[in-house]
Amino acid sequence: MQTVTLTVHGSIAHIVIGNPPVNALNQAVRQGLAAAAEQVERDAVITGVVLSCAGRTFVSGADINELGNPLEPFLPEVLRAIATSRVPWIAALKGTVLGGGLELAMACHGRIAQPQTRLGLPEVNLGILPGSGGTVCLPRLVPMDLAIRMITGGKPVDVAEALQAGLVDQLAEGDLIEAAEAMARTFVPGLPLLERLVRGAEAIDWDAEERALARKSRGAEAPLEALAALRAAAQLPAAEALAAERERFLRLSLSDQSRALRHVFFAERNAGRSLRDTEATPVSLDQAGVIGGGTMGAGIATALLLAGSSVRLIERDAEAAEKARERIASTLAASAARGAIPAGEQTAALARLATASDYAVLADCPLVIEAVFEDMAVKREVFAELDRVMPAGAVLATNTSYLDVNVLADATAHPARVLGLHFFSPAHVMKLLEVVRGRNTGSTALATAGALARHLKKIAVVSGVCDGFIGNRIMSAYRRDCEFMLEEGALPHQIDAAMEAFGFAMGLYKVQDMSGLDIAWAQRKARAGHRPAGERYSRIADRLCEAGRLGRKTGKGWYDYTGDTPQTDAEVAKIIEEESARAGFERRTFGEAEIMGRILRVMQAEGQAILNEGIAESEADIDVVMTAGYGFPGHKGGPMFLARA
Ligand code: NAI
Repeated sequence: MQTVTLTVHGSIAHIVIGNPPVNALNQAVRQGLAAAAEQVERDAVITGVVLSCAGRTFVSGADINELGNPLEPFLPEVLRAIATSRVPWIAALKGTVLGGGLELAMACHGRIAQPQTRLGLPEVNLGILPGSGGTVCLPRLVPMDLAIRMITGGKPVDVAEALQAGLVDQLAEGDLIEAAEAMARTFVPGLPLLERLVRGAEAIDWDAEERALARKSRGAEAPLEALAALRAAAQLPAAEALAAERERFLRLSLSDQSRALRHVFFAERNAGRSLRDTEATPVSLDQAGVIGGGTMGAGIATALLLAGSSVRLIERDAEAAEKARERIASTLAASAARGAIPAGEQTAALARLATASDYAVLADCPLVIEAVFEDMAVKREVFAELDRVMPAGAVLATNTSYLDVNVLADATAHPARVLGLHFFSPAHVMKLLEVVRGRNTGSTALATAGALARHLKKIAVVSGVCDGFIGNRIMSAYRRDCEFMLEEGALPHQIDAAMEAFGFAMGLYKVQDMSGLDIAWAQRKARAGHRPAGERYSRIADRLCEAGRLGRKTGKGWYDYTGDTPQTDAEVAKIIEEESARAGFERRTFGEAEIMGRILRVMQAEGQAILNEGIAESEADIDVVMTAGYGFPGHKGGPMFLARA
């Protein structure tokens, strides 16, 4: 089948791109478009063009495999031929119009879209910027502040915003192609886009934008390059701005950061593939049970509700159940206030929630996720009870951070239906889901985990059973080494500064203070009897916990939170110095490079051990866990990628 076809209805040419699944703009599509554009110029009968795509979406981007190695004809040439056509081209938009797809739509003279369409220029997520006129065309259609938000942030907008801002001319309520054809017949072309003025650039304080973006992007270069390209679009003639944009695009497409981000992109796409390959049928996700409505249980329930499931949540008693409901209601309200969900959805989601203290309400939940205290005895009791009340076909999952999923499974009569589903906090926001496959976990449970990840729009990574699975095991290893650095002379804020300079959103100690120091403390206490004699062990974190410094929730942790801003604390420094002396260290100075070098080496060594033991399915999966769950900067690709770079 040809990737681009042209048929003439009366005087209107219908050009259709058919390159499943998402009509990516690869070389064949560009060739087809170039040939179709030539034919339009030659055929005097044609008075207008409708450009559309077969399948569920308009072009969703360029072919990422061609990045860094572009093949002729190049997209800018093809788009120029369209933009300068003697007849109007109307882009008929649906699905996700992204990247090169939106640049193609902007090269057309008119744009009509179906109601659910989303439009965006997400190139910065791959370490590049639009390279075929996106930064020059978009601010000529929409106000510059929106163009900056779309191009430097990489997030798509919905059709309502696109219509209001001028990116889309018309909404197609009925048949898209018919409406586009009608538009092509009556279209009155305005001034060519590149001859128009950039909109609203005078309102932009470029230097302030740059400072704010530099803070936000933490070392990622593409957003700042994209801003510079937009600034050039505002200040240079269009032809010069286009040339400058192309130069930036070609340079970035060969950059280390873009290679790293593309690695993460493909790694995320391949993650959890083994869950999809199974023949088993997942259980229904229309209704799910959650046990425990604390931080995680409430977050998991919220994620399920937002995805359209009904939720039965069990707490210890009626009072705790009511608290859980309030927690979920306030999370939903906060999401609505942020604009993350429409207000109507908040009410509808809450209406699908039932809280109780009696397991009987779970009877018709095909999937139950446990998120009670991190305590084996408590969890075993919960699983024994679930085993008693749940029908044999139900899948039972634990959200444990560290505990042995095999031991929990063995507390039940049907271990095949037990697995770990390790969410990250806040569970309705964080994209990562570690799927912990126990010794006896069966294919229905695994297929259900895969289906759940898709349902919640999360990235599933499969892990075997070990202390902390992939992510927490690596984090425990580098946390331990960071405490050794504290003993040897570093201070918490120095380690945080080194990590933040590397690109982590937050240093290790700030993260610990946010999530609380007690879970890891409990885990260390549980292991205390099993540590090999003579193994190096730092007592610093234990001493903080013993002093009641459990993090933000107690006002003090590695930092002091009792004032307006977090402060370093002399009491912490004193504990560290005492422990240094006790361990016999002469304190010395650590530079940022040494700190980060050590952290990376520990991550890589633990990652390698995890691979050797068959806990992770691939190196790339480890990178996905670290980038999607632990704040490792995507533009560095992940610890295993860096080890190979
Ligand atoms: P939490 O202390 O905030 O919540 C636990 C909830 O479980 C409480 O509301 C408690 O009333 C309830 N609960 C205790 N025993 C129960 C029982 N027998 N029946 C019904 N409800 C019961 O704890 P959090 O942080 O939500 O952790 C829950 C689990 O999730 C733990 O296993 C933890 O390791 C894991 N986890 C925690 C993460 C975090 O960032 N806090 C991240 C990922 C996993």
